[in-house]
Amino acid sequence: MRRRTFLKTLAAGLNGLIGLAVVIPGIRFLLDPLRRAFRQRGFIRVAPLTSLTTGRPQRVTVLADRWDAYTHHPPGPIGNVWLLRNESDDRYPKIRCLHVICPHLGCAIDYAADRNAFNCPCHASEFDPTGRRRFGPSPRDMDELECRISDTDESGVRWIEVKYQEFQTGVSEKRTTA
Ligand code: FES
Repeated sequence: MRRRTFLKTLAAGLNGLIGLAVVIPGIRFLLDPLRRAFRQRGFIRVAPLTSLTTGRPQRVTVLADRWDAYTHHPPGPIGNVWLLRNESDDRYPKIRCLHVICPHLGCAIDYAADRNAFNCPCHASEFDPTGRRRFGPSPRDMDELECRISDTDESGVRWIEVKYQEFQTGVSEKRTTA
């Protein structure tokens, strides 16, 4: 009798373990998109510091891993930004990063070197070379992104790194999109 009870308990324990081995990965799989939605993208390398010329904005494409529901895609374009190098001091360069997307209705903002101004081709909003709104329907200045210069890597290169985000258009205050 004791032996039968022992075997029953053992079988129940094994069944429980097998059940957990199936259920836990299943739950993790189902929650994976939710987990990724809350995961913040960190700083992304976009260009070597030496590729920037002082006073001349440079447009770069931001590349990063992407996820589509349960599918992971290799790094690809997620957006574009304007990089500005403000100081010529090589030891302490100052970098700013402005979003290419116009805060009015989301067209891509160009840079007109002859006027040293940013302008939006869709409804003629114009911004000064620092991204401040001059005129036009844009409800705010160009959106600025957090950026930094990396330490020197193993190849002796310092990189500009950007914390990429997207912002809501058509509103006067700067709000990130979900
Ligand atoms: S989308 Fe840029 S001015 Fe309208």
